[in-house]
Amino acid sequence: MAKDFSAMEDSNRSANPSIHSVSDPARRIWVHGGLAGLAGGVLAPLLGPLLGGCAAGPAAGPGAARPLLGFKAIPTATSDAVVVPEGYVAQPLAPWGEPVGVPGNMPAWRADATNSAAEQAVQMGMHHDGIHFYPINGSSTRGLLAMNHEYVDDGLLHPGGLADWSAEKVAKSQAAHGVAVIEVELQRGAWQMVRPSPFARRITARTPFALQGPAAGHALMRTAADPAGRTVLGTLNNCASGKTPWGTYLSGEENFAFYFGGVEQPDAHQARWGLRKTAFFNWPAFDERFDASRHPNEYNRFGWVVEIDPMDPTSMPVKRTALGRAAHEGAWVGVTKDQRAVVYSGEDSRFEYIYKFVSRDAIAPAGGGLTQAQANRELLDHGTLYVARFDTDGSGRWLPLVHGQGPLTAANGFADQGEVLVKTRQASDLLGATKMDRPEWIAIDQNAREIYCTLTNNSERGAPGKPGVDAANPRANNVMGQIIRWKEDADFSGTTMHWDHLVLAGDPANTRPEAKGNIKGDIFACPDGLYVDARGVLWIETDMHASQMYKGELARIGNNQMLACDRATGEVRRFLTGPTNCEITGATQTPDGTTMFINIQHPGENASDRSDPADPAKFSKWPTGTRPRSATVAIRRVDGGVIGS
Ligand code: FEO
Ligand code: CA
Ligand code: CA
Ligand code: CA
Repeated sequence: MAKDFSAMEDSNRSANPSIHSVSDPARRIWVHGGLAGLAGGVLAPLLGPLLGGCAAGPAAGPGAARPLLGFKAIPTATSDAVVVPEGYVAQPLAPWGEPVGVPGNMPAWRADATNSAAEQAVQMGMHHDGIHFYPINGSSTRGLLAMNHEYVDDGLLHPGGLADWSAEKVAKSQAAHGVAVIEVELQRGAWQMVRPSPFARRITARTPFALQGPAAGHALMRTAADPAGRTVLGTLNNCASGKTPWGTYLSGEENFAFYFGGVEQPDAHQARWGLRKTAFFNWPAFDERFDASRHPNEYNRFGWVVEIDPMDPTSMPVKRTALGRAAHEGAWVGVTKDQRAVVYSGEDSRFEYIYKFVSRDAIAPAGGGLTQAQANRELLDHGTLYVARFDTDGSGRWLPLVHGQGPLTAANGFADQGEVLVKTRQASDLLGATKMDRPEWIAIDQNAREIYCTLTNNSERGAPGKPGVDAANPRANNVMGQIIRWKEDADFSGTTMHWDHLVLAGDPANTRPEAKGNIKGDIFACPDGLYVDARGVLWIETDMHASQMYKGELARIGNNQMLACDRATGEVRRFLTGPTNCEITGATQTPDGTTMFINIQHPGENASDRSDPADPAKFSKWPTGTRPRSATVAIRRVDGGVIGS
């Protein structure tokens, strides 16, 4: 999410940090070394397997003879356009408001925003974010796209914007949230939505979800409308996404706190989760379940990782409580040698944590009349959740969030595992986990067994009364962000690791110490989206809107962008720049690597809040020359080759 909902992002007042706080300048220089210093660093032995990992996948095909980064870098830009390198084309697809293709119900988008809530519920939502391609029968020219619609710009969503707030506007806002599943096909060189499609589906803030795992049915999860605590309506603020090896879609419920309000004096639990008197999205006024003074437990039913089977439009989506409650950016799956699933996640708030969940059982194959997704319907309900501690010496530990272990006892306010999971933040505070600089996306190199996480920025780091720098979060007033990476000492399921920074973002020529980076190649700031492709390229997407960087620094970097990183050399090369006031997010490819889909989120962000509400397109008209619309972009090479090679 780009908007700087700053007050929400630093609710961590716990005093747990200190063992790894660092003021040793020598150590910090080592930490700052990035990949350039890797030969002498603790990760040096990992380079071999890393390079081995790069040889997997489509590199054995048409791209094999080409260098890892085979495209010509593009310059920074401030244009209201998507720009890609020479020899590439970028095609907008499925913008906000396009009908998704539900048979018999395909209302056209109207540029004056007069579509009703009911129409919006079968159209693409707003603010496209995480995205994955699900091939149909292995095809690279036909498949499904599942994607998140993180939040909305109510100023653009409704005629008259926020004026005359009403139940209909709340309903339309809720209908523009959630997830979309669409069918797409490559026809004569261009991707098209297939409509109608039996797969087309919208999941919104009102769609029924099953609650599963240890917190399902817990007293903290029961409400008047759902006394069993096992069914909840809707998903919210779906940010990043992961694709499971068994074919489902994982989506993180990120800043759910923005939707709730009504409590004059939040209690300690509510305060720890950022509940405020007034909701940022004014839903409580017309939908009382978001009024936490009347329905306090509804709040506990958001902040979960949700799992959706895109191939089965009749399947009920599920909130997986075993993975913990957090302002989840997203969730990403690695596989252990004995075929268990390990789900990494983090929460994008200032001073919050990074988690992993290790499944108890191995991933089941398809069979007995069940698809693989169906055969693994309970896989993520049983296992162990951990929170990360990054120590000063470059080692790290995964601390179990297990009731009865360590301080997680009834005496400390945790009656059972369900309560540990609803109060994952408080449990992590007690365990002494490391308070991070807003963990955003995670990318996993399954072959190299390395994990990367963007720490996008944290201008509160080192501020009076706030946590100071530590080894993993080494810059006070961190306006530029960094990418941390770690490798488990044993398998993905291990409890110890070693970590390093891949890069500190920011211009190396910047003379302001807290904003100076160590990028080798094209400059960027505030890494957010991350994706390791099958050739081993690490794709980095940026979102600078919530950063407090100086105007001059912003001007040098230009619009948000996507870059490719060769992890072996550390080189970063700019591949794409986005339109005015957008962020770049989401990345997925067809199996043959010849199409990459990304999302452009909130072009013209805040345009509707600015001086001329009569012209909401003033700050961006991308992509249709109308009021701005978030959209997917399909990127291909003119010669049909593998992206990036
Ligand atoms: Fe939704 Fe943290 O970006
Ligand atoms: Ca962001
Ligand atoms: Ca993000
Ligand atoms: Ca976002």
